Amino acid sequence: MKRRAALAGAVALTAGLTLAGCSSAESGPDITVSGGFMPQPVSDMAAGFLVVKNSGTTSDRLTSVTSPLSDDVTIHETKNQAMRMVTSFDVPAGGELNLERGGNHIMFMKLKQRPKQGEKVSVELHFEKADPIKVDLPVKETTYNPKTQ
Ligand code: CU
Repeated sequence: MKRRAALAGAVALTAGLTLAGCSSAESGPDITVSGGFMPQPVSDMAAGFLVVKNSGTTSDRLTSVTSPLSDDVTIHETKNQAMRMVTSFDVPAGGELNLERGGNHIMFMKLKQRPKQGEKVSVELHFEKADPIKVDLPVKETTYNPKTQ
């Protein structure tokens, strides 16, 4: 955890130096989302995982997630194997927010239906500064973890 934060800091610093000489550089966050998935739910709850990358020079925050799958979608962090709702996640300038198994995640409660492997779940990510971003999360097998594939 600490090592990752230090790394992100170093990347941000490098990006800042590179852009310092460019007066017409776009300011503000520049957000892209990749690697999203949802393990096939086995109850009326589900989790979602993805990576939010900020290539911009301004930090941003993921503040909420909405989805047609559930009216009760929240963002959670995991600490000491217990999860807890948070109001936002930092998306550092030149850095990434990783929502990954065993860590931070999107939590869907009271599912309106149970999506099956091979289907897709639409979500919309809301940020403090950047415009909302819509992505489809492919539904994977229940135990799927890209880190161990
Ligand atoms: Cu959770």
